[in-house]
Amino acid sequence: MKIGKKVEDAINSQINAELYSAYLYLGMSARCTEMNLRGIAHWLYVQAQEEMTHAMKFYRFILDRSGHSKLPAIEGVRDDWKAPLEMFEAAYEHEKKVTGMINNIVDIALAERDHATASMLNWFVDEQVEEEANSSEIAEKLKLIGGSNDGLLQLDKELALRVFVDRTQPAAPAQP
Ligand code: FEO
Repeated sequence: MKIGKKVEDAINSQINAELYSAYLYLGMSARCTEMNLRGIAHWLYVQAQEEMTHAMKFYRFILDRSGHSKLPAIEGVRDDWKAPLEMFEAAYEHEKKVTGMINNIVDIALAERDHATASMLNWFVDEQVEEEANSSEIAEKLKLIGGSNDGLLQLDKELALRVFVDRTQPAAPAQP
């Protein structure tokens, strides 16, 4: 069934928001690289990659439902972050906002009786729980670390281990 206009508009806005999220994290990653915090920069770069997959999942969905994709300008992001804690606190606030946007699209889809969209959005509802938890947990760790360079370098090592996985795609079947 062709996607309805209200749901189509909301998802087009969400594509823009997810691309903005990618921009936001990429900008933070660049600042961390400049601060020689390569592990944190890597974590943020992987997060930017994840946000791109979120945008593409919405993009494919609109086209699969015979909708019309609109790609307006993406707002610029700040480039004057002073410290990782400031970044991760902002990231947590941003993710809470994104959760609200996703919930709003669920409300629109259900009001329009568009169950295909509501079903697709379940993935994002679950994903947002992790998105909020990740940024919040790292912000809390950074608060504990305070001004300790040792602590910061330890966290930098830990975050360097993140591996990018496109979770919007089905997992490969286990090898026999
Ligand atoms: Fe695509 Fe960070 O939510």
